[in-house]
Order: sequence, then structure tokens, then C-alpha cells
Amino acid sequence: MTNSDFQGSALTTALTEPVSVSWQSPSNIALVKYWGKKGRQLPVNPSLSMTLSKAVTETKLTAFPRNADGDISLDFWFEGSQDNTFGERMCTFLQSVTDIFPWLAQVNLKLETHNTFPHSAGIASSASAFSALALCLCSLEAELCGVMLSESEFRFKASYVARLGSGSACRSLFPGFTMWGLSKSLPGSSDFLAVPVTEVHPVFETLRDTILIVNQNKKPVSSTEGHSRMTGHPFAEARIKQAGKNTSDLLEALKTGDKHNFCRIVENEAFTLHALMMTSDSAFMLMLPETIYIISRIQEARKEKGLHICFTLDAGPNIHLLYFEDQFEQVNKLIVEELLKNNEQNMRIDDLYGNGPVKTA
Ligand code: DP6
Repeated sequence: MTNSDFQGSALTTALTEPVSVSWQSPSNIALVKYWGKKGRQLPVNPSLSMTLSKAVTETKLTAFPRNADGDISLDFWFEGSQDNTFGERMCTFLQSVTDIFPWLAQVNLKLETHNTFPHSAGIASSASAFSALALCLCSLEAELCGVMLSESEFRFKASYVARLGSGSACRSLFPGFTMWGLSKSLPGSSDFLAVPVTEVHPVFETLRDTILIVNQNKKPVSSTEGHSRMTGHPFAEARIKQAGKNTSDLLEALKTGDKHNFCRIVENEAFTLHALMMTSDSAFMLMLPETIYIISRIQEARKEKGLHICFTLDAGPNIHLLYFEDQFEQVNKLIVEELLKNNEQNMRIDDLYGNGPVKTA
């Protein structure tokens, strides 16, 4: 699959007035981790995530008439202010998809975006940001060039485009559980775009994710940089094999409602991600003492109190505590009385299983 499979049209008549579209798109939390790339933003192993509900990016994209074609012309606004750093990343991304959206060179663009969650809170903002932008691009293309796609073609195209901006973003296009990366365990899976996991026991629709903030500082090593440390990693081959097995085991656990195996696989993946960082060339460690304290308490509480809880981590020190709706009260007590008790930040974000992106205008 290449960009030409998704190639769109150019404008046939010049734009005479501004046209806007808006989307709200969620972040997602990886349960099997994408870690390592090949080719043009393709994953070295399959990954599987849960789409979140409350952590969303709201994006409005407007196309204005332009006199002459040229490079991307972008006016970028983040949280109500012009932002050059993120704007440059967005601009580079838009430049890279002009073969898919030739009309991008024929309009002036204004992109306004804001998040419902604090920056650097351990929520993947690039996943929600690039999925929202990809959806806006596909919608604007429909408005400007009359490209008509079915609902599923539209989502798959948006997933393909989002991937080119940030790998994990391609998984945010669908409700619930989503998989990205070719795997024999899921027919239709692909390295180029994500697909929804549809065989899911209803108990997993009651999953909650409370993010326990340990530290909000900017990460010393970005995810993109972290991925590159997998090239030539001494454990790369074993990791790819393990991710394949964890993916197929997790699909089975999701199908059968097996909470025990779900927790086992999710924690194995979180530990592996951080172990890979710590054993790469120019090794680095993103966990902090508080992270380790909270992980230990979660594991003890699971045994002592018989709770179905587990943790996962992104490429950072903050903990995603996963549990089920029916144990909300006991888990909430644990969070308040033990997990956050000595935590200086003392901050949490309560999120849950989400239903996917929403078109808002
Ligand atoms: C640890 O998708 O942020 O969160 O493709 O370079 O933008 P880029 O990386 P990104 O990597 C996410 C890594 C992860 C695991 C995951 O979400 O699967």
C-alpha cells in the first residue's frame, strides 16, 4: 500500500469563500506497545490499544481562497495562541501528504486546535492531534473536491493519513479496541492503517483508565527518538516475537472476557517497553521512584484485595491504572488513600473506554 492508493483530487474551480470542518478525536492507551519503526512510519510489531473517551483534541481546519499554488501555507493556533514549534511539525506533515491531498497547495489553511487534558500529563497528545487533523483533511477533501467515500473507507483513509503524522494516532479512529500492524491473529490487519477489534466481551467495555500523574515535566527522550533506539537493539528479534504472541493472547482474552490474562499481558507489555529503553544503546530510564512505588502497591493490592486491576505506562513516568466499572469504589479508595497519598503532584485524570471520534461541524 502506498500514498497513491489514497490519492485524492485537486480543486477543479478556485475556492471563492472559506470552508471549515471540525472534529473531536480521542487519545488512546496502548496495551500492546508499538516500539520501533521501519520504512515510512511502519511498525516493527503489531500493537493494540483502547480508545479513550475524555482525553480528546478538538480541531477546526479552514481552507481560504488562495491566488497562486505553492508550498503549504498554514496559520496554526494551539489553545488560542499561535504556536510555532508544534505548527512546524504540522506543516512538515501537511507537506508530506500533498500527494494524497493535492488541493492543499491550492488553499491557505488555518488550523485551530485544543486539548481537553493538560499537556505532558502522560496522555499521548500526538495521537489525538494527528487523528483529528487526518479526519479534518478527509472531510475537507469531501467538501472541496466532492470525494465521496463510504463510512468505513473514510475511517481507513483517515487512519492511513494519521499514521504518517504519528504512528499511534492511526489507532484513535475507531471505538474501543483497535489494532495496528500485520498479524495472523486478526484477518484484515495491516501495517499501513489500524483496524477495529470487534470480537470483544462486553465486560471490557466497562474498562476505566485513571492516569496517576507522577511528573508533568517534558520527557528527556521523545517517543520518536525512543523508537529509533530499537534499530540494532540486542533484543529486537525477541521483542518482535513477544509482541506477536502478546497480541494474539490479548485478542483471545478480549474475546473471552478473561480479566486475569488481560492484566498479565498488559503489565508484561509495560515492563517490556521500559526494559527495552533501559537496555538500548544510549540507554535511558523514564520511570521515577514514585512510579515504582505505585506499581508495587497496585500489584500488592491486586493480591491482597482480589481486585482486577493492572497498570500500563507510556513512554513516561505516569501510571495508567486500568480497572473495571464494578470495582470503581474499592479502586477509588485505593487511589485516594494509598496511591496518591504521598504524591507531590497529587493529580489524577479519570478516563474510560471511548466511542471514537465525533464530527462537530
Ligand atoms: C510508547 O506514536 O508517539 O506510546 O510515531 O514517532 O509519533 P511517533 O511515535 P508515537 O509512539 C508511541 C509509543 C508508545 C506506545 C504506543 O502508543 O503504542
